[in-house]
Formats: sequence, C-alpha cells, structure tokens
Amino acid sequence: MLDIRIEKTKTPKELPGAENPLKFGTIFTDHMFLMNYETGKGWHDARIEPYKPISLEPSAMVFHYGQEMFEGLKAYKAEDGRVLLFRPDKNIERANKTNRRICIPEIPEEDFLQALQAVVKIDEAWIPCKPGTSLYIRPFVIATDPFLGVRPSDTYLFMIILSPVGAYYPEGLNPVKIWIEDEYVRAVKGGIGEAKTGGNYVASLRSQVKAHEEGYSQVLWIDGVERKYIEEVGAMNIFFKINGTIVTPKLNGSILPGVTRDSVISLSKSWGLPVEERKISIDEIFEAHKNGSLEEVFGTGTAAVISPVGQLRWEDHIMKVQDGGIGEFSQKFYDTITGIQLGKLEDQFNWTIEVE
Ligand SMILES: Cc1ncc(COP(=O)(O)O)c(C=O)c1O
Repeated sequence: MLDIRIEKTKTPKELPGAENPLKFGTIFTDHMFLMNYETGKGWHDARIEPYKPISLEPSAMVFHYGQEMFEGLKAYKAEDGRVLLFRPDKNIERANKTNRRICIPEIPEEDFLQALQAVVKIDEAWIPCKPGTSLYIRPFVIATDPFLGVRPSDTYLFMIILSPVGAYYPEGLNPVKIWIEDEYVRAVKGGIGEAKTGGNYVASLRSQVKAHEEGYSQVLWIDGVERKYIEEVGAMNIFFKINGTIVTPKLNGSILPGVTRDSVISLSKSWGLPVEERKISIDEIFEAHKNGSLEEVFGTGTAAVISPVGQLRWEDHIMKVQDGGIGEFSQKFYDTITGIQLGKLEDQFNWTIEVE
C-alpha cells in the first residue's frame, strides 16, 4: 500500500461549464500525482500536488533520448453517481510491458491502481456528465538523470494528470476519412511499435501533417517490410467487417495491443460473431470493396472508443465505405462499450472498477 502525501490546491480553478465543448486534451484538473524512482531506493515519495509546471534539468535524459512511457484511460461518472474506471488493469499491464521494453523500472500494479484511484477521487468533481464526455487519465514516466549519453536513466518521475474531455474527433461518432500511408513507416517487428512511447508518435507526425493537408483525419499504417499488410491507425486499432466476419490485424510486435481492440474482440465472441485476428493485405480490402463484401470499417481506441471510417484513400484510389455513413456494428460496439463504461449496461466481463 502506497503512503500518498496529499497537498490540496488553495486556488481551485473554475470547472468547465456544461456549455464548454471540451476540446480534447486542452483542460487540466486541479491536481496531479507524482512519484520518484532512484536506483537502489526504488519508487518512493508518492504524492498528490496542485497541478503546476515541473522543474527539470535541461540535460534530463528524456529530452534527448526519449526514454518515456505513457498510457491513456478514462474515468466515467455513472448516472447513479459512481465513478468508474474502464479496464485499468489492462493499461497497467501494458504500461509495465512498455517499461520493460525501454528499460524503465516497473511500477507495482497495486501501487499504480491506488495512485489512479487517489488522484481521480480528489478531482472527482471534474468528471463531466454530458453524453460522450469523460475524464481522460494520462499516466507517464520520464527519465530524469541530468546526463548526456545513451544509457538507461537511474532516476525517473512517474506522474498522472487528468483532463476532462469531449469527443476526440470534432466529428464525434461521425465517420472519419483515413489516409493509407504509402511513403513513411511507423514501426517494424522488433522495434518499439507495440510499446506506448513517444518515439512511435513522433515517427508518425510527418505523414499526419500530410494527411491533414489533404483533408484526412488520420493515417493508416501498413507494414514496414512487405508494404502490403494493414497495421493500425495513428491512435487506433483498425477493424473490418467482411462478409459478416469481423477481421482485425493480428498483434505482430509492431502494433499497439489496444484495450478497446481487446474489448471489441471479446464482445464479438460473446455475440457469436465470427472474429479473426490475422494478416490483412490492402489488396484484400480493395477486392472486398470492389465485390461489395466490405461491409464496415472502424477504428478502436480509448479516446474515440469506436470511430466509423467513411472513406479510405490509398495512392490515387478512394474507397467509400457504408456510403460514408455509420455501420450497424460500429454503432452496436459503440453503444455497448460506452453503456458498460457508464454503468448503464450489465458489466458481464467485470471491466469496470469503482473509484471509492
Ligand atoms: C498507436 C495506437 N494504436 C491503438 C490505440 C488504441 O489503444 P486503446 O484501445 O488501448 O486506447 C492507441 C491509443 O492508445 C494508439 O496510440
């Protein structure tokens, strides 16, 4: 059990009003969690402080070599007033998997969960209630040794910050347009693609900018070796419904094992829907589109939950899906997952954890 020292803010900020559209990732709550690590001493000094800037040496290793892990999950306010976290155990497990891959010391799972609960509890009033809104939770670890040279740091800072959010895409559950990237590569097997670390996202910026300029909201990555198999979207995993079967790329070491992806697979199985995790080539998607068997395409991720894809662009070819509308299953997965997250539907998988 962590001994968390708590310093409450003396100057609470004004809560965003119900009319505020809560642009994703722009507003932060009153408090944050911090804990330090030092070789020989382990994780120590767990504390909650008022949200404010932190001070670091310009030589702190994270600035130069990118040794950092981050996660993203959400807390929801149920109609009966309960505060629910959605599958935090999966995020904690993935955080430590990332930590192992990039030589950051693991954080004991029960301490991680306690920290999440404590900081969410303190800023409970910040959890918005309007449909489609939630409290986004961003845990992260950075390497803090003041040192120039490539090696794992001996000191780290673990923090959790909180942000009330609305829809991730300005379009809400409306279909997004996706650009299939044919020039740059995000990750390859053996690299860090399956870890949640900043390097993967900086690698994606160039093509994201290009896609935005062309009017597309995200990039769909293809494999970096054969350049023909579909991997994932910038901040989402990708699913196709082909001829009644739900199909998604198999976890192959270069894509992120999404929590929402796992939830969609579990739901599909429980509904008796055929679901396949396997290699999917772009040619197969083109063919399915041509012969009319490509029924739906959607992305899955914590931020947007389910994001129907209305249009895919590959080189000069444009594929319209569902006539640019929302597919039956995209809607059903969205309704079911958000229903469980908000405590409105039975939580048959025990996915939610109450913050008390
Ligand atoms: C690259 C990438 N893929 C997939 C996902 C979806 O993962 P999750 O469902 O755990 O949010 C995310 C978001 O976290 C992501 O950044």
